[in-house]
Amino acid sequence: MTDIEIKKGLAGVTVDYTAVSKVNPETNSLLYRGYPVQELAATQPFEAVAYLLWYGELPTEDELAALVAEERANRTLDDNVRQAIDLIPLDAHPMDVIRTAVSLVGASDPAAYDNSRESDLVKSRRLFAKLPAMVAYDQRRRHGLGIVDPRDDLDYAQNFLWMTFGDVPDPVVACAFNVSMILYAEHSFNASTFTARVITSTMADLYSAVVGAIGALKGPLHGGANEAVMHIFDEIGTASNVGPWLDTALAEKRKIMGFGHRVYKRGDSRVPTMKVALDTLVEHYGARDLAALYDSLESEFVSRKGIYPNLDYPSGPSYNLMGFDTLTFTPIFVAARITGWTAHIVEQAASNALIRPLSAYNGPEERHINSYVPDTAAI
Ligand code: CMC
Repeated sequence: MTDIEIKKGLAGVTVDYTAVSKVNPETNSLLYRGYPVQELAATQPFEAVAYLLWYGELPTEDELAALVAEERANRTLDDNVRQAIDLIPLDAHPMDVIRTAVSLVGASDPAAYDNSRESDLVKSRRLFAKLPAMVAYDQRRRHGLGIVDPRDDLDYAQNFLWMTFGDVPDPVVACAFNVSMILYAEHSFNASTFTARVITSTMADLYSAVVGAIGALKGPLHGGANEAVMHIFDEIGTASNVGPWLDTALAEKRKIMGFGHRVYKRGDSRVPTMKVALDTLVEHYGARDLAALYDSLESEFVSRKGIYPNLDYPSGPSYNLMGFDTLTFTPIFVAARITGWTAHIVEQAASNALIRPLSAYNGPEERHINSYVPDTAAI
């Protein structure tokens, strides 16, 4: 064994520069290209934030109009993708469906291997436009419902909800959904973004990087936590059960989903904004029991462990109130994070170095096969 210092999980290791976003745990802030995420969530449509992440500046009126027109023109689910989704068993996890669908889009794109910045930005905008249809159709087919065609008189958030539920959403709901998409869009070198950058660093194509990122996001320690929050709410049932449930869960050393963060140790900068959005939904739907359970688990867990909620804690119940299936929560995260992932893919490709760290070997010492006779002629 050597005495090399190992940074398990790359904790605390700075591996590269990025101009896409800045997470500052000291000031509990998150900036996208310099703008505080709270300001963006309060003032911008998700389409404008996507533009900001890709191009570094908020769009002018004309630039936004062009992006919106392109997004609306590309919302329809392609026939081959729909047919492929139909072949996937209904009990497959929706993240597997989305991963497969994105892979098929890539395999069908003649420009897939054109890794130029321009081509990658075209692919990024197309995936951004197409993901809602994949997520919405997959939820609907699980309920035996047919596809709902997109409506180009609706913005991104309204249309996503329209394609999922077949109703034009109430403005309160569309606004909360827009906020969640902006908050989920980007978060520096998280596990899925780093995965995308590792794949890009080999000069593989953008689709391969996105498919890898979807795989990384699926796990409950990362994006899968928004789904897992709802599972624990179902387990607990009501606010009055929180104490005993927590006693057992902590005795069993379970991770409480939706709490804790690798970078933020004093609270996640995105939570207050999403909590306000959740409060508007609680008011809209009259969901007092859910709100009581939410508050009770938060205050009990924070007072016992001093570990604070992350974004998945308010977003899981928000998606539940909107009517999304619990299994659909992480695919919604994919539809949001496609913007951040692809901004990082473009950035990685522009100043690439193969990502290939070292390992410290701790297996058996050198040993030999007894029957092996060296071929002296070959030495
Ligand atoms: N429940 C119970 N204990 C926890 C939790 C939690 N949610 N989070 C941290 N701890 C404990 C952990 O057991 C450890 O205790 P000890 O020192 O006694 O072994 C201590 O806090 C330090 O935790 P850690 O796992 O070393 O911290 P980390 O920085 O490696 O983990 C984390 C960060 C996100 C993996 C972890 O907090 C966690 O598993 N949280 C639950 C899953 C979750 O909500 N993930 C979403 C993350 S943020 C948004 C996103 O990416 O989607």
